[in-house]
Amino acid sequence: MTIPTDPRERTRLIQAGLSTHVDGGRAVNPPLVRASTILFDSVAHLKDIRRRRDDERVLSYGARGNPTAFALEDLITGLEGGYRTRLFPTGLAAITQTLIAYLQPGDHVLISDAVYEPVRHFARQFFDRFSIDYSFFAANGQGGQGVEALLRPQTRLIYAESPGSLAYEIVDLPALARLAHAHGALLAADNTWGAGYLYRPLALGADIVISAPTKYLSGHSDVVMGATTTTQAVWDRLNRSVDAQGMTVSPDDAWLILRGSRTLAARLPLHAAGALRVGEWLQTQEAVTRVFCPALPDDHEHALWQRDFSGVNGLLSFALKDPTESAAIRFIDALRLFQIGASWGGFESLVMLANMRQARTVSDWSRYPFLIRLHVGLEDPEDLIADLEQAFAFR
Ligand SMILES: Cc1ncc(COP(=O)(O)O)c(C=O)c1O
Repeated sequence: MTIPTDPRERTRLIQAGLSTHVDGGRAVNPPLVRASTILFDSVAHLKDIRRRRDDERVLSYGARGNPTAFALEDLITGLEGGYRTRLFPTGLAAITQTLIAYLQPGDHVLISDAVYEPVRHFARQFFDRFSIDYSFFAANGQGGQGVEALLRPQTRLIYAESPGSLAYEIVDLPALARLAHAHGALLAADNTWGAGYLYRPLALGADIVISAPTKYLSGHSDVVMGATTTTQAVWDRLNRSVDAQGMTVSPDDAWLILRGSRTLAARLPLHAAGALRVGEWLQTQEAVTRVFCPALPDDHEHALWQRDFSGVNGLLSFALKDPTESAAIRFIDALRLFQIGASWGGFESLVMLANMRQARTVSDWSRYPFLIRLHVGLEDPEDLIADLEQAFAFR
């Protein structure tokens, strides 16, 4: 190995090729900017940025965001109709960091019973240790039925996920917002299902909206990320908490989500048409006892869905007449096009077994203890139906 001996060579190695401005036109997409250290023109410049960075979005250090992530923040803020957005390394981190930002020891939080399962796990692990009280409310019904009675003087937050995970229960979000605000509490909603496109929780009265761009914004099953967007009134608390805990995302991941987002509006209707076609077909099957999808006219949640949503995505679930776990497993294992996988929102069709008695705390799922959850991808729905048909025959 030869080591450059001319010190000027070493200096050139370091100083050459630092950020440059290229003369000419501009690319369609924002640049992918990787950065830890940020350079300043003078000490005064550095001090000015340090002074402003808690309140304004300025480039100050890689752990406090990067220009590629800022571009994605803006896109999500626009979709959700909020004030500003912070990004997190996963959707789950967006949820947990948001709960940590707005809750403190002695507080009580009301959580939807239809919540994404790891949130229940987080509550058990973390809230007990930090003396935060929590309880679950049944996740459906007009007028926020039953929720008022669960509010306590210490309730600071209502946390909803609508439609809920696995069975798509829909909460009356405007009613929950009225209840929360009359009580001096905040309303947060997980909008991963709606992808910031089919549902507008902030417009319906929520203060905070959380999502996992991992799913439909990415659309390609190759990146994980979370996002929290708030109204201006409650922004500061999230912003400061997130900075204090060093949450950031890689510019590469932000760039991938930006890229996926451009085709969201083209992909969602295809997922929706496929899910409806598959859902209607499943309803005609002898072996199926119930199909869960809020866009189906006889779904329990259809009226609220029609009122508050502008569309549906590729998710639906169904229960077999044989309620045993082994019947559901035999069916799932017989599928060929639907692959077994826990996430959703990508281009591919997926299937997963849902144990509803584990996934709910206060709602009674003894009638449908096991659901088969489908994510209908961008394949031809007739091929997907043929796959389901052969799995029914094979069982
Ligand atoms: C409704 C909902 N919210 C949040 C998440 C968490 O997202 P991530 O997998 O990026 O942590 C998921 C993941 O499945 C989800 O279904």
